[in-house]
Amino acid sequence: MNPLQSQQLIDLELKYGAHNYHPLPVVLSKGKGVHVWDVEGKQYLDFLSAYSAVNQGHCHPRIIKVMQEQAAVLTLTSRAFHNNLLGVYAEYITTLLGYDKVLPMNTGVEAAETAFKLARRWGYDVKGIEKNKAIIIVCENNFWGRSVAAISSSTDPSSYGGFGPYVPGIVKIPYNDIAVLEAALQDKNVAAFMAEPIQGEAGVVVPDEAYLSNVKALCSKHNVLFIADEVQTGIARTGKMMACDYESVKPDILVLGKALSGGTMPVSAVLARDEIMLCIKPGEHGSTFGGNPLACAVAIEALKVIVEEKLADNANAMGALFRDELRKLNHPVIELVRGKGLLNAMVIRTKEESEHNWNTDGELAWNICLKMRDNGLLAKPTHGNIIRFAPPLVINESQIKEAVSIIKLSIEQSL
Ligand SMILES: Cc1ncc(COP(=O)(O)O)c(C=O)c1O
Repeated sequence: MNPLQSQQLIDLELKYGAHNYHPLPVVLSKGKGVHVWDVEGKQYLDFLSAYSAVNQGHCHPRIIKVMQEQAAVLTLTSRAFHNNLLGVYAEYITTLLGYDKVLPMNTGVEAAETAFKLARRWGYDVKGIEKNKAIIIVCENNFWGRSVAAISSSTDPSSYGGFGPYVPGIVKIPYNDIAVLEAALQDKNVAAFMAEPIQGEAGVVVPDEAYLSNVKALCSKHNVLFIADEVQTGIARTGKMMACDYESVKPDILVLGKALSGGTMPVSAVLARDEIMLCIKPGEHGSTFGGNPLACAVAIEALKVIVEEKLADNANAMGALFRDELRKLNHPVIELVRGKGLLNAMVIRTKEESEHNWNTDGELAWNICLKMRDNGLLAKPTHGNIIRFAPPLVINESQIKEAVSIIKLSIEQSL
């Protein structure tokens, strides 16, 4: 029997799977390093990295080896019992990142939700906020997942629309606006301010220099926790271990996910100092899979790969080269290129601003992505006319140059 071809597999998904995504039409069946292959055997440069989960490259041999070895021995105990790896992992990650304690979860949304709960509890137990009055401040255009609390934090109608009622106690302010934050912090019921150091899903929005250090200083002044959602920006993606490291900012609560497992399985984490973390007592929060021995083994190795292969430095150097090369194209369709390390975006000029007759209501960005696919590079638009470029951090100079020539060719073929 012939194996199923791409179109048949897409049809199967459409027929039997929920229609909650609109993927680029390509069906992948293999990955290695910066490359993925479709079921027909065509090779692509992966410039999305599963939304920055595959920072270490697809199927990193060290991570896969540890995963296979651990999977053969013990995968899950639940937290009803101890396992022989959770303590070892907890010591490793807290020492590496400089926190007292870690609370292990699975997906990014669970970790961010955990940070929310932790901040509320700290607000009541330590700060002394009146019962059920705690407020968490978030930023417009944030993205931290699809749970009811996450969509209650969202300002994107396609995320929250039609799913109410929403979780109360969330205040939304503009991103990258210190004056508005300062005004919002006057409310004594504010427990925390949560933000991404660079807004990923919003289109790789990089805040002004010193934004994060000003945020941290203001939060400290008002006895409010700063929660950094580094699910997408963390683990070397932006050229430092954490994006907050650029401003030497240490968040009160750090939220991690995605690349914590090198893209092999859902592993997320919340890190904080004792004063915060110990507010949650046994039985008050948890997850059947959080802290499972397979995840612990994989996460230790995934972090060691980042450190030992100096992937933050590579992300920094390759990201600078990528932005330089893209800007050098000086193409009128490219309004701007922005990003840090290997979290980058190319903004396509909108109709009003262009003298050309380009259809740019997101259709051009989508068409460029289709052409890039045909030419051997995978990326996806985020928010219409913005294309995110986030390859695995193991990428080298010649692959960056190859990518830029594919992008150039694809733009030309799309006009
Ligand atoms: C900044 C940020 N936080 C949280 C999440 C949610 O992670 P997950 O999809 O693993 O739940 C995402 C996902 O894209 C994200 O970008």
